[in-house]
Amino acid sequence: MLLNTYFKHTANAELIQKKHRSCYPVFFGPKWPPGRGGAGRTTRRRSVKLSRMFLESLEVENFRNLHGNVRCGHDLNILVGINGQGKTNWLEAIDILATTRSFKTTRLQETVLFGEEMAVIRGRVGRAEDIHRDLQAVIQGNTKSFYVHGKREPVQRYLTQLHAVVFNSDELEVVRGTPEHRRRFLDRAITSIHPPYVQTLADYNRVIKQKNVLLQSVQDEKIILEKATELLGPWNEQLSAHATRIHRSRVRYVQRLNETLEKRLFGTEEVTMRYASSLEGKGDLSDYENFIAERLTLRVQAEAAAGYSLVGPHRDDLEILLDGHDLRKYGSAGQQRSVLLLLQLANISVYHAQQQEYPLFLLDDIDAELDYQRIGQLLEFLQGKTQTFVTTSKESFVENFAAKADVFDVASGHANRR
Ligand SMILES: Nc1ncnc2c1ncn2[C@@H]1O[C@H](COP(=O)(O)OP(=O)(O)OP(=O)(O)O)[C@@H](O)[C@H]1O
Ligand SMILES: [Mg+2]
Repeated sequence: MLLNTYFKHTANAELIQKKHRSCYPVFFGPKWPPGRGGAGRTTRRRSVKLSRMFLESLEVENFRNLHGNVRCGHDLNILVGINGQGKTNWLEAIDILATTRSFKTTRLQETVLFGEEMAVIRGRVGRAEDIHRDLQAVIQGNTKSFYVHGKREPVQRYLTQLHAVVFNSDELEVVRGTPEHRRRFLDRAITSIHPPYVQTLADYNRVIKQKNVLLQSVQDEKIILEKATELLGPWNEQLSAHATRIHRSRVRYVQRLNETLEKRLFGTEEVTMRYASSLEGKGDLSDYENFIAERLTLRVQAEAAAGYSLVGPHRDDLEILLDGHDLRKYGSAGQQRSVLLLLQLANISVYHAQQQEYPLFLLDDIDAELDYQRIGQLLEFLQGKTQTFVTTSKESFVENFAAKADVFDVASGHANRR
């Protein structure tokens, strides 16, 4: 079975102690308002050996329609319930706690319960024997803040605490949508193994924004081209430096993905990936920094005519081919789903190779995306590796896969262990 060849480099290194689920008390006290220092309560009923990163428990306050807490299982967690009850919201809460971002929205204020001002997500993470971290995410208006043991942490530091990889229908845009989705996919993955990359991206985007204001004012004839060229000089210098860092990181990451990618999944078609720079075919990419600097100088007039930046990694793409054909244009819906799964598994594998830990794996509406045979193969493969959370509205799914799972019935925002 091809899936079994995933993580081959780590398969023997598994030291996982199974069936430790449900042995922690829900530890959250009423700590309100949050963030006033001091460690959370760390009462322990009994100590166990942990060799993986686990979300042991989760508690929410004023987060969408959710109520209460969940004590998570260490392997597969199935959240089941009819439509509109809060299954996806529980996954979203985990995603925010793990990655500081939501797979559902960039406007986190939408997640605050209607009529309330502040939402809080708290989670306890076990990483090794007797090492537990109390994480907390607070969303208030446009601001989000993150705490470890009650102490506020900058996002970059906080991001090293926990990580999650998501598989849902929106993520399908990575394999069938615009280049922007694929760039974002790469950037998210790179950030997960190298948090300072967030800053590089922010710096790059800031420069592009400033440059675009300037280019727009040339187009609007508010300033003349000669003046703009002079003003663009320092921006382009900065841009070259940030662009080079982004280009290198993405090229290197795609190389690592290719190394871990099982090229034939569920079938005989071969998947290949390539980072496609928008500067390809125009000169020597191996000396990227000088090359992009040259291109920026050469294209000033064209950029001024367009009124926005035409040169840089914000125009690049990740090419995904199935048997040599563009997956986006020629792949069937099933092939696209399978390849996305393949990409996410490769992401998980790269993360594990780097961090020696598996991220959480969140699969929303799992059976809307994959048939039971593939799900069976996938879950069998993930068992003992990732802590996995799946949602479904089908009772037949639970009948098929409950044997090795913790099952939660989700109704009106509550998740009740079955
Ligand atoms: N900010 C909010 N405040 C209160 N309720 C909210 C908020 N945002 C969303 N909801 C509610 O959350 C519910 C949807 O939850 P969710 O998307 O998790 O459902 P689901 O169980 O995944 O359903 P499905 O099976 O259809 O995917 C809706 O009833 C919606 O009104
Ligand atoms: Mg849902």
